[in-house]
Formats: sequence, structure tokens, C-alpha cells
Amino acid sequence: MQTNIGKKAAGEKAAGYIKPGMTVGLGTGSTAYYTILRMGELVREGLDIKAVATSAQSEELAREQGIPLVDFDQVDSIDIDIDGADEADAQLQLIKGGGGALLREKIIAAASKEMLVVIDEQKLVKHLGKFPLPVEVATFAWELTFRQLVALGAHPVLRMKDNQRFLTDNGNYILDCHYQKIHNAAALHAQLNNVPGVVENGLFLHYATRLIIGAADGSVREIT
Ligand code: A5P
Repeated sequence: MQTNIGKKAAGEKAAGYIKPGMTVGLGTGSTAYYTILRMGELVREGLDIKAVATSAQSEELAREQGIPLVDFDQVDSIDIDIDGADEADAQLQLIKGGGGALLREKIIAAASKEMLVVIDEQKLVKHLGKFPLPVEVATFAWELTFRQLVALGAHPVLRMKDNQRFLTDNGNYILDCHYQKIHNAAALHAQLNNVPGVVENGLFLHYATRLIIGAADGSVREIT
């Protein structure tokens, strides 16, 4: 993988917020990847933490790094969740799910006291929506769910990977919805999740507590 300096700078900076004894939510994607690598280094230097992962991919990486993972029945609360995003605005609203892990990511974000979002500067936008909004749907009668979303003006496209329908870690499909510009994110969030067959959508509106933004020159700025 080619190093993206902004993603690396943001991802590594976020690891600095982890304190001994914390339970940490591990995000998914190429920016959270750098956080997990840095966490691995810190653990090997003696940092005592526990972690839960938002995807099979991050779980595997954490194992390789020697980061102790715990089952959810052993977790009272998650102190800090560190995850990437596909778009973020200055009000800390996000679009997530480009990697297909949005459901697990949202469950972990909702259970966390803090959510740090690591992005490169190109993902900071004035208005959410240019990035197609991922909507996770049940495979059962997904065509009917698809039509409901068409009727709502979502312009959905079934996500494919290697010529096959993309399946999430939860065995669902993703419909990427092309809005271009989202005007009322809260109303859209409610409208989408109200459609039977929709499992979750990629709008994360009230979870992020800090944006950590890495630039191409390796500098980092933060928005809280
Ligand atoms: C995974 O489903 C996503 O929500 C990722 O967090 C998001 O796509 C960011 O990924 P990158 O850091 O790879 O851009």
C-alpha cells in the first residue's frame, strides 16, 4: 500500500489520545490502519489497553499487532473510538461506510464516550453528499428496498466487488446513494432508517467528538 502522508499523520496522532487502562474501539479503513499500527507499537512498549474491532479486517490487523481484543460481554463501556470517514464537515457530521463496515462502526461509535475521526484533508467538506452515501440493506427482497430508495430520490446503486455483489461482515448488501449534496442530514437519516429492509445508513451525525485532519505535508490540525 502506498503511504498517504496525511492519513498516516492523522492516524498516528490519534493514538496519542489513548491512555493506560482504556478500552478502545478500532476503526476500519486505510487511515485507522495507521492508528492500529501505532497502537501495536505502544502495546509492545507496555501500554495496557483492551480493544474491540469494527470489522473482521481490523480485528485481524489488531491480532497481528498483538493488541489485546476482548469480547463484547466483557466490555462495560468503550472509552475512545478511533475511526476514519469518507467525508466530514466542520460540525463533526460524517459519511462513513466506504469500506462497508458502517453498521459495526456505528454500534461502536454509539457505545463510546469519545469518537476521534482520522481523515486526510481532502475529506473535510463544506456540505456532505458528494461521496455516495452507503446504505446497508438486508439481502431478502433487496430489490423492493432498492425501489423504495429510488422513490425517495436516493439514486441507489448496488455495490459490487470483483463482479460479485458486495457482502458486509453482517451478510448484508450495500446500496450507495448518490445525492451530490445533502441538505438536511438529520431528516435524511430518519427517512432512510424508516424504510423496511434498511439496516443502517452511513450518516454519523452526533458521534464524533474530534476531527484529526492530516495534510499532505504531514502537519495535523484538529476540530472539536
Ligand atoms: C469503512 O466502512 C469506512 O467507514 C471507513 O472508515 C472510511 O471509508 C474511511 O476509510 P479510509 O480511511 O480508508 O479512507
